[in-house]
Amino acid sequence: MHIDFTGFAFCIHTFGCQMNKHDSERVHGMLESLGAVQVETVEEADIVVFMTCCVREAADTRLYGQVASIKNIPLRENAPVSKRLIAIGGCIGQRDGERLIKQMPHVSVVFGTHNIHSLPALLYKAIDDSKAQCEIEDASNSFPTDLPQRREHAWAAWLPIMIGCNNFCTYCIVPYVRGREKSRTIEDIVSEAKRYVDDGVKEITLLGQNVNSYGRDLYGSPRFAEVLQRVADTGIERLRFATSHPKDLTDEVIESFGKIDALMPALHLPVQSGSNTILKAMNRHYTHEHYRELVRKLREVVPNIALSTDIIVGFPGETEEDFLDTYRLVSDIGYKQVFTFIYSKRNGTPAATYEQNASREEIQDRFDRLVDLVQKRAFELNQPDFGCDVEVLVEGVSKRNPSLLSGRTPGNQTVHAPIPSGMTIDELCGRFITVHVDLCKTWYLSGTADPKSVR
Ligand code: SAH
Ligand code: SF4
Ligand code: F3S
Repeated sequence: MHIDFTGFAFCIHTFGCQMNKHDSERVHGMLESLGAVQVETVEEADIVVFMTCCVREAADTRLYGQVASIKNIPLRENAPVSKRLIAIGGCIGQRDGERLIKQMPHVSVVFGTHNIHSLPALLYKAIDDSKAQCEIEDASNSFPTDLPQRREHAWAAWLPIMIGCNNFCTYCIVPYVRGREKSRTIEDIVSEAKRYVDDGVKEITLLGQNVNSYGRDLYGSPRFAEVLQRVADTGIERLRFATSHPKDLTDEVIESFGKIDALMPALHLPVQSGSNTILKAMNRHYTHEHYRELVRKLREVVPNIALSTDIIVGFPGETEEDFLDTYRLVSDIGYKQVFTFIYSKRNGTPAATYEQNASREEIQDRFDRLVDLVQKRAFELNQPDFGCDVEVLVEGVSKRNPSLLSGRTPGNQTVHAPIPSGMTIDELCGRFITVHVDLCKTWYLSGTADPKSVR
């Protein structure tokens, strides 16, 4: 089938984690390489793609409202189709398949997390046959590395080193919608990293649901530390990764933070809870003591490492005592950033059958107390940066004030500073500049950028 989307306009709505963001870059690249152009709004678009997430209920239910809300928006003048094409991909697509078409008859295409490559053909068929198309596979046979890709930023790249998850934390839907762990070969990863470096990319983030177990399926034992070294050897300036399961974080990887200059001093290490009873019920395979020991070792190697984490409040069975264990852990560790979630029941996961003993009010109250603590600790932890010079990779302008540049420190902290006079944001984006910090807020630093430091 010869597929040509010349004259078509598309937009993509992306929800959820970096996996979806990366998949959206592939969808973007594919449609663009077939002649379509990206537009900002649904009004201008002939094709609307939803890359969906079902990790919590809120994201899940929102999709239906959003799809319904675009149903009656008229097509633009001279649109190449008589009816707007709506495609649903990502994790809800994978989970619900044909059911989505039954529930929302105006949807044209549903495609699974392993079927991204099929989207153009499915869209074409939906036009030709004027009926909805659905393609869902249970597992991937290959990585979509050969698909074209259009990166969101020219200077930053997400590089998936593995897909899927084998951990089956009892609350989590991800293993059911992303399949089992599957690693890419080291050669494949390194050659993609080299291409990015040649292309002027400054920062690579290696992606996987649990990068620490990278290689186990392929080589019989984890080889993540080796991947870090090999990718750093390509000459990339900044290297990061997400996400890392505490049960599989090895000493070798911890030591990499001391050995590899490009590896940034920041680590997202989701703890989920500070109570050993709850950690066990979550099937996390570590204790809070083990987690604290990991943090001690990390700080021995990189004293100022910026730690961030995820926490679920109100897991079934969580008592006030369990919550206080979490509260103490957050207070003790000192995180620069904590993503706090209220437990959301996901049908099909083991925890969906566990009994909930706390009331909604109790859970909300725990959540509010935790958020207050997180903010207080984040503010305190930022204060030592006052008066320091930090090197920032410029990402764009501040959302609130377009006269300020915005970028990130090696520790992944957001920094704002006035754009130096005589310079434009376009020439600064993707470059490094030193900022002298004179204000430390909870979620960002601000200061004065030195125009002579740009590199
Ligand atoms: N693989 C990653 C995270 C995947 S999901 C990891 O293991 O860290 C991102 C976060 O969503 C999780 O860390 C968890 O805190 C949260 N999450 C997952 N399922 C959830 C649920 N059912 N209810 C509330 N939060 C959940
Ligand atoms: Fe979900 Fe656990 Fe896998 Fe992370 S490690 S994706 S939380 S099952
Ligand atoms: Fe959501 Fe799927 Fe990621 S459920 S968090 S988009 S793997």
